[in-house]
Amino acid sequence: MSNKHCSLKVNNTLGLDIGTRFLIVAKNKETILEAWKFSKFLKLPFLILGEASNVLFLEDFDGIIVLNRIKGIKVYEDTRTWKLHIGAGENWHELVQNMLTKGIFGLENLAWIPGTVGSVPIQNIGAYGVELKDVCNYVDVMHLNNGKIKRIYSNECNFSYRDSIFKNKYWTNFVIISVGFSLEKKWKPVLTYNDLKYLNPVTAWDIFNEIFLIRNRKIPDPKIIGNVGSFFKNPIVTQKKATLLLKYFPDMPFYPCINNQIKLAAAWLIDQCNLKGYYVGGSTIYNKQALILINTGQATPQDILSLAREIRVRVGKKFDIWLEPEVRFIKAQGECNAIEMIS
Ligand code: FAD
Ligand code: EPU
Repeated sequence: MSNKHCSLKVNNTLGLDIGTRFLIVAKNKETILEAWKFSKFLKLPFLILGEASNVLFLEDFDGIIVLNRIKGIKVYEDTRTWKLHIGAGENWHELVQNMLTKGIFGLENLAWIPGTVGSVPIQNIGAYGVELKDVCNYVDVMHLNNGKIKRIYSNECNFSYRDSIFKNKYWTNFVIISVGFSLEKKWKPVLTYNDLKYLNPVTAWDIFNEIFLIRNRKIPDPKIIGNVGSFFKNPIVTQKKATLLLKYFPDMPFYPCINNQIKLAAAWLIDQCNLKGYYVGGSTIYNKQALILINTGQATPQDILSLAREIRVRVGKKFDIWLEPEVRFIKAQGECNAIEMIS
């Protein structure tokens, strides 16, 4: 059977024309377990996905892809907080909007991020001054070998910038089936991001609406232009390295972060290499945001890969900073090492 048997073109936000041997939509955990057993029986690779907004398929997938669509929204409260227990297959942005409508605030800075709830703990999604770790209470994971469910509390998740224990190789035979959130009833706006600072006084809806405008100015809608958001992570360097770079590039944006380290803006580094307008086949860099690689319509996975490699080499040679992909790379047999693929 051809791997293109099931097309994933509308099921990956890059809009790449790739396929998979089997595609299963799972509305409950039993279906996921059945699909896993099926993959073992056929000796085929297995991959769980949300909305494929953070993956780059390098070729057709030679196995079973399960789209997690486990739904369910439960809201509890105690005197101080709202507690949410959310099915992993709920759409993240719809959840944020739904909670605002109910008068439950705290997720608004993370609005408009594509994908499912089950994926948000994996890379500890972040935007405009808030990260998932700030609102996450627990993550429920199901072990595929025995169907047992384990609750992992936020303090055990090792959340850091675009990272968590769920990216560790140890977590290969599991799926996230629900996520718990804890939101303070006494809402405090987070306005630390520069473009939000002037919003004062402010409601959660103001933040939600403002973030729509900011994102619209620089992030393309994947329904119109295929993309995966930021392709690379922002690099984190030592103070010594940042000071050296600032000597030669005094305009370089930099953001102090934990452990005396400095986060740099990958978009700025790419921009300094004059890479906007550079094409590889059907892929190029988005003209309003250099960290976003786009499919102009006919891009192949190899186009995106070559473009990413070129960006990494140019930035590396100019700044001696070697960018790491944020996006997960998937080959026919499963995930592969993204850095190796573009080195
Ligand atoms: P997928 O891409 O489907 O999966 C990502 C990885 O998680 C894969 O390895 C997959 O196997 C695994 N996975 C998925 N679901 C499960 C599960 N239930 N259990 C176990 N493993 C699972 N990210 C940010 O942090 N901040 C942003 O501001 C942001 N903006 C974006 C803007 C655009 C336009 C786009 C396209 C992407 C953006 N992203 C951003 C990246 C992306 O939206 C997030 O990483 C999102 O959480 C991915 O969700 P998904 O359901 O599409 O995951
Ligand atoms: N910049 C340029 N050229 C550009 C774009 C930006 O020089 O083309 C410079 C500007 O100086 C700007 C700085 O880069 O001040 C940072 O840019 P921006 O504010 O757009 O944010 P970013 O660092 O590129 C990060 C996240 C986004 C998140 C925004 C808002 C990463 C890898 N990306 O982008 O997350 O939405 O901040 O918080 O951390 C994602 O992860 O997919 C994603 C979109």
